[in-house]
Amino acid sequence: MSDTETNKTFTLTNDETGEKYTLPVLEGSEGPPVVDIRKLYAETGHFTFDPSFTATGSCKSRLTFIDGEKGILMHRGYSIEDLASKSSFMEVAYLLLYGDLPNKAQKDKFEHDITYHTMVHEQINFFYRGFRRDAHPMAIMCGVMGGLSAFYHDSLDIYDPEQREISAHRLIAKVATLAAMTHKYTLGQPFMYPRNDLSFAENFLYMTFAVPAEPYKVNPVLASAMDKIFILHADHEQNASTSTVRLAGSSQANPFACIAAGIASLWGPSHGGANQAVLEMLDEIGSKDNIPEYLERAKDKDDPFRLMGFGHRVYKNFDPRANVLKKACDEVLDDLGIDDPRLELAMELERIALEDPYFVDRKLFPNVDFYSGIILKAMGFPTSMFTVLFALARTVGWVSQWKEMIEEPALRIGRPRQLYTGPKSRPYVDLDDRK
Ligand code: ACO
Repeated sequence: MSDTETNKTFTLTNDETGEKYTLPVLEGSEGPPVVDIRKLYAETGHFTFDPSFTATGSCKSRLTFIDGEKGILMHRGYSIEDLASKSSFMEVAYLLLYGDLPNKAQKDKFEHDITYHTMVHEQINFFYRGFRRDAHPMAIMCGVMGGLSAFYHDSLDIYDPEQREISAHRLIAKVATLAAMTHKYTLGQPFMYPRNDLSFAENFLYMTFAVPAEPYKVNPVLASAMDKIFILHADHEQNASTSTVRLAGSSQANPFACIAAGIASLWGPSHGGANQAVLEMLDEIGSKDNIPEYLERAKDKDDPFRLMGFGHRVYKNFDPRANVLKKACDEVLDDLGIDDPRLELAMELERIALEDPYFVDRKLFPNVDFYSGIILKAMGFPTSMFTVLFALARTVGWVSQWKEMIEEPALRIGRPRQLYTGPKSRPYVDLDDRK
C-alpha cells in the first residue's frame, strides 16, 4: 500500500445505465481526502470537468500545506509565522529543496553554494541592451530567464541529480542578480556585480540600489524586511505559476525554460501582478472620501473593478502571510520615518471592507499583496518591480516543486482533457462557395 492509499472508496452511479463505479480514496498527511479518478475515463468513458481546478489535485507534494479555511500555511510542517520570525530565506530555500531545516554546517555550505553562483555570464549583459529601457521589468525577466538555458548547457540533463542540483542553485542565485540588473537597466544605471561578503537579501539590495560612484551601506531593517518578504513569497503549493512550471517541466523541458514559464504566469494581475495593482488602485482611489464609491464599484458585477489585494482562491480566512507582512510594514515605515498617506488609505479601506457584508459573506480578506505593495514602495522599489521581487522569491518554490516532480518515479507528461463545445464534423466548403 502506498503512503496515500486507504481502504475507503467513493461510488459514482451512472443515472442513465444504473451502473456503479467504485473509485479509490487517497489520504495525505493533512487536508481533505482525495478521490482518485485516474482510471475513470478508461473504466467509464467519462472525463471530469474542472476548468479552473477548484477541486482537482494535480500532484502529490510534500512541500507546502495550506488550510484556507483556517488561514494556515506550512512549509514541510513548519508554520509560516515561525519561519518568518525565526528563520532566514536561505534556510527556507534549503528546507523547501531538501525537506529539512539545515544544521549549521549544511546552512553554511548552502549559503556558500548559492553565493558563488550569483554572477551571470558576462554575455548576458548584452541581452539587456536588446530591450527598450521602458519595457516592463517582467517582460525583461521572462526573456532573460528563458535565455539562461542558452548559457548553462552543462547542467541541462534533468535526469542527472548532480546537474539538477547545480541548475537549482544557479536559478536561486542568479534570479536575484537578473532582477537587480533589470531594475538598473530600466533606470539607465550601470549593473552592480554581486558581493559575496553580503547575505542574500543584503546583496540583492546592494545590487539594486548601490551605484559605483558612492559607497552603499545596507540598512539592516530593510535587509531584514527584504528577507521576510522573500520567505513569505517562497512557495504556495499548486498555484497558477507553480502549476505552469510543473506542466512545462512534465514534458522534460529544461528548468530555466520552466521557470521562465512560471514568471510569465505570475505576471498577471490576478496572481503576482496584484501587488502592483494594489498601489495603482490606492493612487486611483486617492482619498478616504472616495472609498465608498470604489467599494460600490467592486461589488457591481457589471463593473470590471475589483478590490485588488482582497480575496484569494484558497484562503477563505485571513491570509497568514498578510498578518506577518502588516507587522513588517509598520517596522519599515517606522524606521524610515515614512508617513505614507497610502498606508492610511489602505488601513481605512481594509477596515471598511471588513465590515461590509459583501466582503464578509464572501470571505474576502486582505491577501499578502495588499501589504507587500506598500512596504516595497517604502523601501524604494518602483511599482513595476514588485512582481519581479515576487518572482525572485518564488523561484525557490518553483525550483523545489520542479525538482520534486522530476524525482517522482511515475512522472508522465501533464495533459488535461476538455469539454468540446465547437461545431460537429462538417464538410469543407470551397472558397468560391462560401457566403
Ligand atoms: N473584489 C470584489 N469582489 C471580489 C473580489 C475582489 N477582489 N474577489 C472576489 N470577489 C467576489 C467575486 O466576484 C465572487 O462574487 P460572486 O460570488 O457574487 O460571484 C466571489 O467574490 C468569489 O470570488 P471568485 O471570483 O470565485 O474568487 P476566485 O477564487 O476565482 O478569485 C482572486 C480569486 C483571483 C484572487 C480574486 O479574489 C481577485 O481577483 N482578487 C483581486 C486580485 C488579487 O488580489 N490577486 C492576488 C491573489 S494572491 C496572490 O496571487 C499572491
